[in-house]
Amino acid sequence: MDPVYLNGEFIPRSEAMIPVEDRGFLFADGLYEVTPFYGGRPLRMDGHLRRLTRGLGALRIDFDVEPLPAIHRELLERCGLQDHTMSMVYLQITRGVAPRSHAFPDPPATPTVFAYAKAFERPGVERWMRGFNAVTVPDRRWTRCDLKTIQLLPSVLAQEEARQAGATDALMVRDGLALEGAHNNVFAVFGDVVATHPASNQILPGITREVVLEVARARGVPVEERAIPIAELACASEIFFTGTTTEIRPTVELDGQPVGEGRVGPVTLELMQGFRELIARECGVALDPDASELDGG
Ligand SMILES: Cc1ncc(COP(=O)(O)O)c(C=O)c1O
Repeated sequence: MDPVYLNGEFIPRSEAMIPVEDRGFLFADGLYEVTPFYGGRPLRMDGHLRRLTRGLGALRIDFDVEPLPAIHRELLERCGLQDHTMSMVYLQITRGVAPRSHAFPDPPATPTVFAYAKAFERPGVERWMRGFNAVTVPDRRWTRCDLKTIQLLPSVLAQEEARQAGATDALMVRDGLALEGAHNNVFAVFGDVVATHPASNQILPGITREVVLEVARARGVPVEERAIPIAELACASEIFFTGTTTEIRPTVELDGQPVGEGRVGPVTLELMQGFRELIARECGVALDPDASELDGG
C-alpha cells in the first residue's frame, strides 16, 4: 500500500494529506532529516537525532525525538525494506497548523510529523570510479545554514543550475569561499591533507562529513577544517562531496576543468574504502568490492 507515517499513523501515501494552513506549507517553518539504513540498520541515527534536536531547539518547536527510532524501524518494515542493502527514511517536522500569522501560534500548535521510507539504489563502484563533475554556483542562502530547515529554495535553484550545466553537483560559493554542495558537504585534497569548511553557521554539519573526518583520522590521513578560497581549489589534487545519499562522491571535473589529474585520486579511494569498512562494521553490510582492486591495487 506504499505506507507513510503521518502524525502517529501509518497510512497509504495516497491518503496522506496536510491542511493548507500547515506552517511548513505557508512559511517553510520546519525541519527535516534523512537517515540512511544499510541492510535495515541505521548509520549514525544518534547523530541525526542530535542534529534534529538542536534544530528543534533553535526553532523553538517543542517535540520529543525519543519515539523516532521505533517509527523509522516500523516504517522500514511496513515498506518491506528491513533487509534492503540501502534505504533511507525522510522525516519532516513542522510547527503545525494555525491561521497564518508570522509569529508563533499562541497557544503552540501540535507539530506535524511526516515520514516515508525509500530504497536507495547505489550506483556500482565502476560508475564511481569514472568520477563526476560539478559547477560552482553562488550561495544565496540565509545565515543559519547549520539548521536543516525545509526552506530549500536556494539549494533547489543551485541544483537546477548544475543540472542545466550537465553537472552532478553544485558547489556553493560565498565571499570567495567554497562552502558546500546544494545537498552535500565538500572536501578538497591539497598535498596529503584533506580539507573541508569548518562546522559553522555557513554549512550544514553533515553526519557523513563527520564520519568521513573520523575515517580520515583513523587511517592517518591529515585533515584540516578550514575555509577554502575558491581560487585555491584550482590547486586541489582531489575534490569530493559527502552526504547521506551522496556517500563519498569523487569530482574529477570542476567548471569544465580537470581536478588534479582528472581521475579519482588515492585519498578519495582510501576514504571510500574506510567508509565501506565502517558500514560493514556498524551495519553488517558488505558493499561493493574494494575500489582499490578495480584501480589495479
Ligand atoms: C546543504 C547540505 N549540506 C550537507 C548535507 C549532508 O548532510 P548529511 O551527511 O547529514 O546527509 C546535506 C544533506 O542534506 C545538505 O542539505
